[in-house]
Amino acid sequence: MRLALTSDNIAGACEAVVAEMIKAAQGEAMPYGGDPLTEQVTKMFAELFECDVAVFLVSTGTAANVLSLAALTPPWGSVLCHPESHIVNDECSAPEFYTNGARLVGVAGEEAKISVSALEQAINKRMGDVHSVQPSAVSLSQVTEIGSVYSLAELQEISQLAHSKGLKVHMDGARFANALVSLGCTPAQMTWQSGIDIVSFGATKNGAMAAEAIVVFDKNLAQKLALLRKRGGHLHSKMRLLSAQMLGYLSDDVWLNNARHANAMMALLQKGMASIAGVEIIAPAQANMLFCRLPVGMAEALLAQGFSFYTGRWEEGVVRFVTSFQTQQADVEDFIACARDLSTSHTKTS
Ligand SMILES: Cc1ncc(COP(=O)(O)O)c(C=O)c1O
Repeated sequence: MRLALTSDNIAGACEAVVAEMIKAAQGEAMPYGGDPLTEQVTKMFAELFECDVAVFLVSTGTAANVLSLAALTPPWGSVLCHPESHIVNDECSAPEFYTNGARLVGVAGEEAKISVSALEQAINKRMGDVHSVQPSAVSLSQVTEIGSVYSLAELQEISQLAHSKGLKVHMDGARFANALVSLGCTPAQMTWQSGIDIVSFGATKNGAMAAEAIVVFDKNLAQKLALLRKRGGHLHSKMRLLSAQMLGYLSDDVWLNNARHANAMMALLQKGMASIAGVEIIAPAQANMLFCRLPVGMAEALLAQGFSFYTGRWEEGVVRFVTSFQTQQADVEDFIACARDLSTSHTKTS
């Protein structure tokens, strides 16, 4: 099989994660998170974020997002988010289901980031009007769905506005590590120090098998989340196997090194693709995801050669490439060489 750039989900689990799972699978431990590994992982998160946190492990990013939102909004509330966001487009109305009907309200902005002025308008629009849903939370994706990354200043501006109006802020961090190494800041700086109240801390895309953490900075939300997780069917009885994944993932900088590798592979891919005639970079990749428009026929030809990536989901000719911790440099170089050959042969015959 040739290079697959379909998603970072197509990668397996990294060795450190699998090794910890195998260890944890031996013997017995108390269920539902009452085990020593889960306690250890909670402490690791507190160290990582440099503050006291409540941690709720779940096995999908959708569960992490929707349980977080359910903790932040009443059924008559609304969650303000970018129209491109995963919670709007890719969660099959699970946010509405888990919040008992709260509404997702799109707030547009360049590069799939929420614009502060549009957010202010959306918040003010019908606040206090009994006939309308009441803005209760902002949810932003870091990395965004187009591959851009909010700067710390942008996060702070959004959070300050949200808090000043009484709204909480959720971060969909399905690609948390990729954003973090891209910004070169600490987890604390990218979250609570920038006003984030709750984060879906993704690990699955970057090396875990199936483990995500809801990390709660506002401890008043902890009890509610514990009950929401159980009621929603996401309190795993063998929690230690999720905790083991997190232990392997967070130990020895595995998560950071995996993300650095994925981002470096994307930088290489982006540089190569940008140098090919006819290829247009739609949104520069700041982490491990790139959108570009390929010359007519190139996507089909690459797919026919055995490469894989998503196409046909966006405007004509637009494709998405995603690298992962498993992406190999030689495979990226092979992909770029093939794309270059196709562009040259296309130019010669046309
Ligand atoms: C931005 C974003 N949020 C959340 C998720 C988590 O989704 P899942 O429920 O498939 O783990 C994804 C996965 O594609 C994503 O891209």
